[in-house]
Amino acid sequence: MIQYQKVAGDFDLTGQAAIVVGGAGGIGEATARMYAKKGAKVAIADMKDTVDEVAASIAEDYGVETLGVRCDVTDQRSVDAMVSDVVEAFGEINVLAAMPGYVHLDPAASIDISTVEKHINVNAVGVFRVCQAVANQMIAQGKGGKIVCVTSQADFIAINEHVGYTMSKAAVVGMIKVCALEWAEFGINVNGVAPTVVNTYMGEKAWQGEVKENMIRAIPAHRFAETDEIAAAVLFLSCAEANMITGEDLVVDGGFTIY
Ligand SMILES: NC(=O)c1ccc[n+]([C@@H]2O[C@H](COP(=O)([O-])OP(=O)(O)OC[C@H]3O[C@@H](n4cnc5c(N)ncnc54)[C@H](O)[C@@H]3O)[C@@H](O)[C@H]2O)c1
Repeated sequence: MIQYQKVAGDFDLTGQAAIVVGGAGGIGEATARMYAKKGAKVAIADMKDTVDEVAASIAEDYGVETLGVRCDVTDQRSVDAMVSDVVEAFGEINVLAAMPGYVHLDPAASIDISTVEKHINVNAVGVFRVCQAVANQMIAQGKGGKIVCVTSQADFIAINEHVGYTMSKAAVVGMIKVCALEWAEFGINVNGVAPTVVNTYMGEKAWQGEVKENMIRAIPAHRFAETDEIAAAVLFLSCAEANMITGEDLVVDGGFTIY
């Protein structure tokens, strides 16, 4: 069960062992840095070669133990090896932030099916593969845990040329609910954070020129989000302060989906 624990409101993660999948840049690196600032040991898992560099830089900046692990979420062996590397290094896993991401925009009438499949493989099945592997480790440990997946505003609204991406992100919302239901008895919270456009490599790739200007106009806050603003929401859902929140998909969108 997700047990009651009196909380102080300081969002402390001292001594917790966390993994950030998709952690070698963008929102993932910002999340890893925030976890480290709150005292967690952090593993950076990503398919990029820079995982060790990012991990070393976080260790130096915050004085916590870190680990870089190359991992491709579309490959079961790679995910299993990543989980066992982290357990070997940290002894256990208490927190997972899962946010590997792929986006390629095309109209629904002409998008290649293989492009749709790639979105599903990385953003949906890949994320589930990581959640399942980590949840089994948390269940074996018997101490509960926190799982947070970064979804998207595309869970709630239609966005032009986002069909493959939206299919994959909406699937994660369903996954979050089922896993939250099934894993609550093991003390595991499973939630999502659904950002609007964020100023990262991916945000730049999907939003340029006139489309970007129109989008900024349409967001009531009249700007895109920054990575720390999304990381802060992920941090909240990763802490004991969020013990009674599970199966949710927290929107961080400057008001874009109010209507
Ligand atoms: N930037 C935005 O506008 C925006 C908006 C809503 C949601 N998101 C979501 O936020 C998450 C983080 O994206 P970001 O904006 O920081 O972009 P990003 O491109 O900086 O980060 C995505 C990371 O995922 C990693 N990755 C991709 N495929 C992988 C795989 N198969 N295995 C392991 N790692 C893989 C990449 O190497 C990269 O480091 C994504 O899930 C994205 O869909 C982003």
